[in-house]
Amino acid sequence: MNIVLIVTMSEEAQYIIDKLGLKECNKLPTKYPHRLFEKKTENYQLTLIENGRYAGAPDVSLIGTVAASVATHLVIQNLNPDLVINAGTAGGRKAMGEKIGDVLVASQVYFHDHRVSLPGYCEKFPGGFIAKSRSQKIAEKLKLPFVIMSSGNSFDMNDEDKKLIEAYQSRAKEMELAAIAWMCEVHEIEWMGIKAITDIIDDELKPSAEQFFANLKLACENLATIVEAALMTFDG
Ligand code: ADE
Repeated sequence: MNIVLIVTMSEEAQYIIDKLGLKECNKLPTKYPHRLFEKKTENYQLTLIENGRYAGAPDVSLIGTVAASVATHLVIQNLNPDLVINAGTAGGRKAMGEKIGDVLVASQVYFHDHRVSLPGYCEKFPGGFIAKSRSQKIAEKLKLPFVIMSSGNSFDMNDEDKKLIEAYQSRAKEMELAAIAWMCEVHEIEWMGIKAITDIIDDELKPSAEQFFANLKLACENLATIVEAALMTFDG
């Protein structure tokens, strides 16, 4: 089985690279900024792609749905995976029981910032991609919540985003999965989303940058542990 793991931020990726003992390998033939890491076991070939970093200073990761679509298209075209897993972080909702560091598996994913009130477009544009049964089986095996998630291109949310997050019953607000799921569906490739919670979006108290990065550390440690456990399910 050929598995591709898409991880947006290098900070998130490093925990997984270390946990799984991945080795850096040759880049794809493209100017799109990215790094690839790999590992082969008896049962699967795994390639991790870090989504990339913006050119110049400040040196930060490429985030959001646009970069995620491009990275997904590139890895699918070049590596021909059987399964694409997007592992990353998300904002959770205390009203739904989420806490910092919790890890969730996606049952479905919407875009919570795609709004076009025209016939046809209003149905297609928000996405709502449904995960295959393997995601649910892995969630059950690892005793993880199997939940609806949603993606948008802002870290904060306006009132319309809030309404849609509520309407979709999204329990994890993040910035890439819907784009990755869409690209996978275009290519008829199975996708899976695994997200760890770094902040609580329905809390009035917003974390400071310092608190957010402390939360990110805990979330990434838990995420790496779960990604390792999820991959073990392919070892039979
Ligand atoms: N990633 C982690 N927390 C997030 C949030 N609140 N919104 C979007 N992406 C996130």
